[in-house]
Amino acid sequence: MSEKPWEGRFAEKTDRLVESFTASIDVDRHLYAYDIEGSVAHCRMLARAGIITAEEASQLVEGLGRIRREIERGNFRYDDSLEDIHMHIEARLVQEVGTVAQKLHTARSRNDQVALDVRMYLRSEVREIAAYLIALRGVFADLAGAHLDVILPGYTHLQRAQPVLLAHHWLAYYEMFTRDSERLQENFARINVLPLGAAALAGTTYPIDRAYTAELLDFPAVSANSIDTVGDRDFMLEFLSAASICMMHLSRLSEELVLWSSAEFGFIGLPDAFATGSSIMPQKKNPDVPELVRGKTGRVYGALVALLTTMKGLPLAYNRDMQEDKGPLFDAVNTLKGSLGIYIRMLPKLTINAEAMQRAAATGFLNATDLADYLVTQGLPFRKAHGCVGQAVAFALSVKRELHELTLEELQRFSPLVKADIFEVLTTRQMVDRRRSLGGTATENVKAALALARQRLEDDRRSWFPAPGA
Ligand code: ARG
Repeated sequence: MSEKPWEGRFAEKTDRLVESFTASIDVDRHLYAYDIEGSVAHCRMLARAGIITAEEASQLVEGLGRIRREIERGNFRYDDSLEDIHMHIEARLVQEVGTVAQKLHTARSRNDQVALDVRMYLRSEVREIAAYLIALRGVFADLAGAHLDVILPGYTHLQRAQPVLLAHHWLAYYEMFTRDSERLQENFARINVLPLGAAALAGTTYPIDRAYTAELLDFPAVSANSIDTVGDRDFMLEFLSAASICMMHLSRLSEELVLWSSAEFGFIGLPDAFATGSSIMPQKKNPDVPELVRGKTGRVYGALVALLTTMKGLPLAYNRDMQEDKGPLFDAVNTLKGSLGIYIRMLPKLTINAEAMQRAAATGFLNATDLADYLVTQGLPFRKAHGCVGQAVAFALSVKRELHELTLEELQRFSPLVKADIFEVLTTRQMVDRRRSLGGTATENVKAALALARQRLEDDRRSWFPAPGA
């Protein structure tokens, strides 16, 4: 059992059960690199402001470097009685450099220190996730480019509705993941604010230079209110909200992959390397990857609800409840990265059964609206046209044929306005290509949308990851 920094005030040793109950080291040890980087910057600032000497600062910085290497080599000893990563590193620093280590915590509290660590962690992870999203959007743009002439039924209520280009369907996902990326970019700006210097909650009597610390740690802004700084976890909640929405998008994609790869649809085949078999039924090939992405979505929603619930009853400023933030946050980050990563690898390897898609688009009266629209162009009001086509559909059903399989004479029984050019209008190709309204599925629109999508992707790549010197 180690000495506690607060021992002076206490008459009893901490109960062992309390030590293990309050310890967070198993979770926050993953923040060690940020904790050390933050401490190094803090030392430099303290020295520059004349609060410690330059000699003391360099002893501290060197000691911190040695501890970092020790952790990375796996030789560091963790101990519940030291609670968290901050106290572990400080205690080890005392062993490394002696009493000067006791100056490291001058003008700082664990409250602003932990806020710094998680902000540094999250900004780095968000950048990584942004790179994943750029790659995923690139995959959808490539898929769209490859499937500009594949037609499938578009669905509403999971009933066949109207034919669309498969490229148009892929670009719908491109749009969703673009919005996810935008949400993260806004979140990033609010994560990227230096909390260090708020101290416990009220600021400090030492003449610290927060702007200098911010510069050393590459923060473009410094937090404005010390009470808010140590009590705020909005930046995490925003991240978890954005992550939840992104997982929801991935989950909808998963659901479609599960449906489309079933024998009932037969639209796609999953690559063998990304499917699994059954231990009992030799014929089976299961879509476990999409199922698990769909299933893991619940964990990320759970993290959001957990932290919202943790925060809702807290008086200002820091409360120990907030230690519960990191487990769900780390889990959500890892789940999102894992899910994005596997789809970036898997989606380019899907096999597309264009024939099955085309067949499905050509059956089930998907051209009924187009027949009605045709009658409207011949002068019939839409409601009347709808009625005529309804009767034609009923007749076609009774003779077990599609609308385009009726003869001209049969069609004319329902409206004399139908002419021989109707058969061209009722092909899936025409149905797609005549939907030229902005954002519609016509091939020429989708080609233009794809060019724009590629351009945006380049712009976003540059704005997230500017070339050095730019
Ligand atoms: N382990 C704590 C956390 O994660 C660090 C801050 C502790 N502050 C305190 N006053 N006990 O929130």
